[in-house]
Amino acid sequence: MSNGIEQREQWGSRMGFIFAAAGSAVGLGNIWKFPYMVGANGGGAFVVIYLAIVFTIGVSVMLAEFAIGRNAGLNAVGSFKKIKGGAWPLVGWMGVIAGFLILSFYGVVAGWTLAYMVKSFTGLIAIAAEGKAGDAFGAFVSNPTQVILWQAIFMLMTIWIVYKGIGSGIEQYCKWMMPGLFLILLILIVRSVTLEGAGKGLEFYLKPDFSKVHGGVFLAALGQGFFSLSLGMGCMITYGSYLSKKEVLPSAAVTVSFLDTCVAFLAGLVIFPAVFAFGVEPGAGPGLTFITLPSVFAKMPGGMIWSALFFFLLFLAAITSAISLLEVCVAYFKDELGWSRPKATWILGLVIFLLGVPSALSLGGHIPQVAGKDFLDAVDFVSSNVLLPLGGIFISLFVGWVWLDGAEKEITNNGTIPFGFMTAWVWICRIVAPVAIAYIFFSGLKW
Ligand code: PFF
Repeated sequence: MSNGIEQREQWGSRMGFIFAAAGSAVGLGNIWKFPYMVGANGGGAFVVIYLAIVFTIGVSVMLAEFAIGRNAGLNAVGSFKKIKGGAWPLVGWMGVIAGFLILSFYGVVAGWTLAYMVKSFTGLIAIAAEGKAGDAFGAFVSNPTQVILWQAIFMLMTIWIVYKGIGSGIEQYCKWMMPGLFLILLILIVRSVTLEGAGKGLEFYLKPDFSKVHGGVFLAALGQGFFSLSLGMGCMITYGSYLSKKEVLPSAAVTVSFLDTCVAFLAGLVIFPAVFAFGVEPGAGPGLTFITLPSVFAKMPGGMIWSALFFFLLFLAAITSAISLLEVCVAYFKDELGWSRPKATWILGLVIFLLGVPSALSLGGHIPQVAGKDFLDAVDFVSSNVLLPLGGIFISLFVGWVWLDGAEKEITNNGTIPFGFMTAWVWICRIVAPVAIAYIFFSGLKW
């Protein structure tokens, strides 16, 4: 129950909120997953599909989440309870569970980025120069002490920022980390595209190949879109709940989606030109980031610095997302169970860390596989490909059919600001988003 004594925290400024929400959206998903997905799923063809999905369904669901959160001024579960009740709070519940699950493995991979930042200066580049980056990565992820230690350090940093609260924690940190992230990204792009032979990488990344586009590609784009924009799990409901009533929601949703998409797209401009310029085979997923790229950096003059800078970029992206995942859980325990912020942050942070230990150990083969997948991949699959799309369907149906009047009022700040796309938004939420998500979900869901 909300105790109603304390004034609810709020973002200090519009910019602060945009940076925090963009910080949540821009994460590992943009930098290590998007570029690879583009390369593997038809290059420019995938980009077009992705853009279409993000700027119709993605922006609409984000707007819906902002509206729900700001109207209720509560966490994901409490918001549904306050606005409608019935079974709807279950949608928020699913989101809180997804928050626990995603952060559990996210903290593990984010810990690797920290470790690699340090390793850039302590021998990684020399090992990679001998062509042994793969062995080094294998040895690292199979070393339980190392992976758990780095995961713990990362989780402690996340806990610290969330513990400091909305204005003086999350907003304050995102306000300098996000511009920092953009700056590093730009420096790395300039380095990468000016390498000799960079053009081949651009071709691999962007040349449309429609023969690679099939049903699974749409699911990939949709799943990636939801994960990348932090949608379907009440994260934007939670962040929206700290927004002032004066804020203009549609432009916030478009800005955040735009920034997120830019970073994803630009990350590919860092990675592929460099990979191709040095004639290295582009790998997939973790391999691309932690094996291929160190080998590429090893071939550049000043490789240590470029490597450290790149892993620092990944770390910044990861931590601004991790704090939003923890905040979803903290807000629930604070609002609904009356826990204090410090208590909720420490206890939940610790629980999530422990939940992540099996994921941390899974790549080294210390944990049995789950139906043929590493534990980490299995948790990722269930949360990203099942919980987020389901959350997206229900959130759209909720605003489209159950709470439309209220949502329209919220989006137009009680009729005081115009919103030219209202009809389109309503029909996207009513029909297009739920049907598209359900269709893609059922037709493309493969373990
Ligand atoms: N959007 C983040 C990324 O692209 O890495 C991941 C994420 C953060 C997903 C927060 C969901 C969320 F609520």
